[in-house]
Amino acid sequence: MPTPTVEAVEAALRGVIDPVYGKPLLELGLLSQISVSDTNGKNAAVSMTVALPVVSEEVQKQVSTALESALAPLGVTQLHATFRLQVPMRRTNADDPVPTVRNVILVMSGKGGVGKSTCAANLALALHRGGARVGLLDADIYGPSVPTMLGVSGHPRALDGKSIEPMSRFGMKLMSIGFLIESDKDAIIWRGPMVQGALNQFLTDVAWGELDYLVLDLPPGTGDVALSLAQRLKSTGAVIVTTPQEVALQDVYKSVSMCKKLNVPILGVIENMSFFVDPAGNKHEIFGAGGGQKIAEFAQAPLLGQIPLDQQVRQWGDDGTPIVQAMPAHPTARAFVQVAEALSVRIARDAFERAGGEKAPDTHGPRRLKIMR
Ligand SMILES: Nc1ncnc2c1ncn2[C@@H]1O[C@H](COP(=O)(O)OP(=O)(O)O)[C@@H](O)[C@H]1O
Ligand SMILES: [Mg+2]
Repeated sequence: MPTPTVEAVEAALRGVIDPVYGKPLLELGLLSQISVSDTNGKNAAVSMTVALPVVSEEVQKQVSTALESALAPLGVTQLHATFRLQVPMRRTNADDPVPTVRNVILVMSGKGGVGKSTCAANLALALHRGGARVGLLDADIYGPSVPTMLGVSGHPRALDGKSIEPMSRFGMKLMSIGFLIESDKDAIIWRGPMVQGALNQFLTDVAWGELDYLVLDLPPGTGDVALSLAQRLKSTGAVIVTTPQEVALQDVYKSVSMCKKLNVPILGVIENMSFFVDPAGNKHEIFGAGGGQKIAEFAQAPLLGQIPLDQQVRQWGDDGTPIVQAMPAHPTARAFVQVAEALSVRIARDAFERAGGEKAPDTHGPRRLKIMR
C-alpha cells in the first residue's frame, strides 16, 4: 500500500468523534500538526497533536483507539499522538481576582463532617495526577484542614512585599489560614468582615499563577463565605458533598438552594461514606442509601460518584498524604479519580455548550500532558 498523503489521512480522521463534545475532533479544532512518514517503505507512521479538554485516562484511551482504527485502512501501522491538556476557561468579570485560573471549583455542603475537606484534597490531587495544574485553597477559615491532610507546615513566603507564594505539596499549590497561625491549637476568633478579608486576600494576593483548576474547600453552613465568594468572582461551579443518610440531607438541600440563589452552577454531587466493604467483601450501607441521588435530583446535577467509608481514607488524611496519592491503585482512591474525571468532563461540556456547541472552547495554549501513575 502506498504511503497515504496528509490529505488522505485528514479525510480518514474526519469521522472520528470526540467522546467529550460528541463532534468530529478535526472539526472541533482539536487535532493539529498532522504529518505522515514512511518507515522503511512499508509501514506508514502518522504523528499528530491531540488536545484533550478533560483530565481522563479513559477518554485519552478512547481517542487513541478511535484514531488508530480510522487510520488502519490506509495502512498506517504507527500512531504517534502527543496529547495536550486544554481545559476550557470559566467566564470572568473584568475585575476577576484570579484571571489566570481557568476553573474555580467550590466544594461545599451545608453540613460539617461529611468529608468536604477529604473530597477536596483527593479531587485536587486526582486532577493534578491526571496532568492538570492544580491549586487547593482552604477556605475553611474556622477549621482549616489542608495543613493536616496534606502534611504541610511552615509559613508561606512573601514574594515582593505584595504577593504571597503559595505552599506546595505533591506538585499542587496550597493555601490555608492554617499556614498563617502559630500553632494548630490557636483559637481563631474571626468576625465576618475579617473572614471576608482573609479569603479575598487568599484570592488576590496569593501568586497562584496559571492553573487549570483551583479547588476551594469551603466551611460548613450556607453562610457568608459562599456569598462573599460569589460576589467576588464567577466560579466554574460547586460540587456538593453529602452522606447517604436522611438527617444529613436537610442542610445539604439548603446549600443547593443557596447556590441557585447566587447563580452558582452545581457541577455535581458526591456521596461520601456511601457504604462499607467488610474484609469478606460484603457491602454494608451504614448510613443508609439514596441520599446522593436525592440531592442530585434536587440540584438537577449528576451524581459524580460514591466514595466508600474506608478507614484508609481517614488514616491517610490524618497522616498528611491523601489516599489518591498514597495508594493510587486502591479501589477507594480509584473512586476519587473517577469522580475527578467525571467532574472534569462535566466542566468541559458545560463550557462547550456555553460557547455554542460548535468549536472547542479556548483552543489556544495547550500543554503537553504528563500523567502520573
Ligand atoms: N470516605 C471516608 N471514609 C472514612 N473516613 C472519612 C471518609 N471521608 C471523610 N472521612 C473522615 O471523616 C472526618 C471528617 O472529614 P472532613 O473531610 O474533615 O469533613 P468536612 O470537611 O466536611 O468537615 C475526617 O476524619 C475524615 O478523615
Ligand atoms: Mg472541612
